[in-house]
Amino acid sequence: MAEELMPVTGSKEEQYAALLPQIEALVTYEPDLVANLANVTAALKEQFGWLWTGFYLVKENELVLGPFQGPIACTRIAKGRGVCGTVWARGETIIVPDVEQFPGHIACSSSSRSEIVVPVFKEGQVVAVLDVDSEQLAQFDDTDKQWLEKTVAAIKW
Ligand code: SME
Repeated sequence: MAEELMPVTGSKEEQYAALLPQIEALVTYEPDLVANLANVTAALKEQFGWLWTGFYLVKENELVLGPFQGPIACTRIAKGRGVCGTVWARGETIIVPDVEQFPGHIACSSSSRSEIVVPVFKEGQVVAVLDVDSEQLAQFDDTDKQWLEKTVAAIKW
């Protein structure tokens, strides 16, 4: 495993395209899920510098905070609540250009202006979500959706 991430410049697409193989290399030989989730959040944060990047894991009937990078966050989210709980319930990625316009958005940080949440599937069930928050309005688009979905699929769940 490389000990340092190779920083990438270029378009967002180029950054993701160069980062994904590095993430795959990070997680391929490590069987521990928490270790891999921690490194994936660190790699995304280091490359893109977003406000908050982290996982919530489905545990019994709630989402529970997992490895993340950024300010402290709420620890438990019910199914159907907020962006994360809605993604869990629907099983599809949601892009929120302006968090103030999303009914029921849970404001873990007052600095967050836009957000993307990606579901993670194992055997057809949502087992986690990847949540990314930005201080910029409309930070995320379909490019982020496609590459973040590929990123979570690279992890052995
Ligand atoms: N905003 C999320 C809650 C998690 S924090 O942003 C880290 C939501 O509405 O589900």
